[in-house]
Amino acid sequence: MDFSGSHILSIDQFDHSDIDTLFSVAESLEPYSLRKKVTRVLEGAILGNMFFEPSTRTRISFGAAFNLLGGAVRETTEVKSSSLTKGESLMDTAQVLSGYSDIIVMRHPEEGSVESFSQASRVPVINGGDGSNEHPTQALLDLYTIKKELEANHKTIQGLRIALVGDLKFGRAVHSLSKVLCLYKDVTINLISPRKLRLPDSYLRLLTESGVNINEFENIEEGIIEVDIIYMTRIQEERFKNKSDAKKYRGLLRLNEKIYTANCEPNTVIMHPLPRDSRQGANELDSDLYKNPNLAIFRQADNGIVIRMALFALVLGVVEQIGKTSREVNWHTSKRH
Ligand code: NCD
Repeated sequence: MDFSGSHILSIDQFDHSDIDTLFSVAESLEPYSLRKKVTRVLEGAILGNMFFEPSTRTRISFGAAFNLLGGAVRETTEVKSSSLTKGESLMDTAQVLSGYSDIIVMRHPEEGSVESFSQASRVPVINGGDGSNEHPTQALLDLYTIKKELEANHKTIQGLRIALVGDLKFGRAVHSLSKVLCLYKDVTINLISPRKLRLPDSYLRLLTESGVNINEFENIEEGIIEVDIIYMTRIQEERFKNKSDAKKYRGLLRLNEKIYTANCEPNTVIMHPLPRDSRQGANELDSDLYKNPNLAIFRQADNGIVIRMALFALVLGVVEQIGKTSREVNWHTSKRH
């Protein structure tokens, strides 16, 4: 794809070589995310960071990534503090906000909303999550994490065995991730979910047509035996029409040290897009795994920065100029990794 000036709405836009390009730019940006170097390449540019649904990691990491490239960030964090609450259409909001920004990131509870918004926007729009549909940048940072973690274990994405666990029906992170895994050869996906929260048929069809080996389980112990990665997810309670239905699934699929040790291969990596639901009844990923070196969840969250920096640099066409504006940091760098 030609990244320059493009909207980033779906993971479908990426082919193998786009991902290679993105990952190589992301790697070159690590000195900046590690605060070893500073660049001002986006000085003067403004990111409109529009989050009409709760977010911590995605919103802050998009904002921090833009700041790390030297740009400024303006944001809205709730529908109720924006004019959408006065009945303004997304189209009008897009016309207005794109006049104030050079690029926009948007999260919204309705499927397809970010795409409609982008049609009225005069600047590139990046999908930060549209309902239960897609979360393309999460899939990209997940895939980057998978690559890095596998490399540390002398493995590659080709031949990957991964378990996707939890709410596969409403989880947009697993939707985008499963689509991007279709680009790789010899991939096995163990889908572990309650029957009513299975991965939707459209995704299953896509995976099968792409030659991905699929196994389905309702029991976590059986599905995590021979995998390189376990990708846990939260029950997406906010997406259930009937909230009491959601409660039925709370705590059904849990990973803790005991289950991990009894069933997993020694280097099985644990991922989760976060937030994990730490309420006692839920607790899909127990904090007793905190000291397990294979727990990659915070490395995964950190990777959100370089991936989002790389996307901004590519979409705004400044990759070649980063080196020219680069300098050492002024302050004492104490960031540990
Ligand atoms: C995910 C999301 O919003 O879809 N979170 C994230 O962006 N890191 C997953 C979730 O909320 O469960």
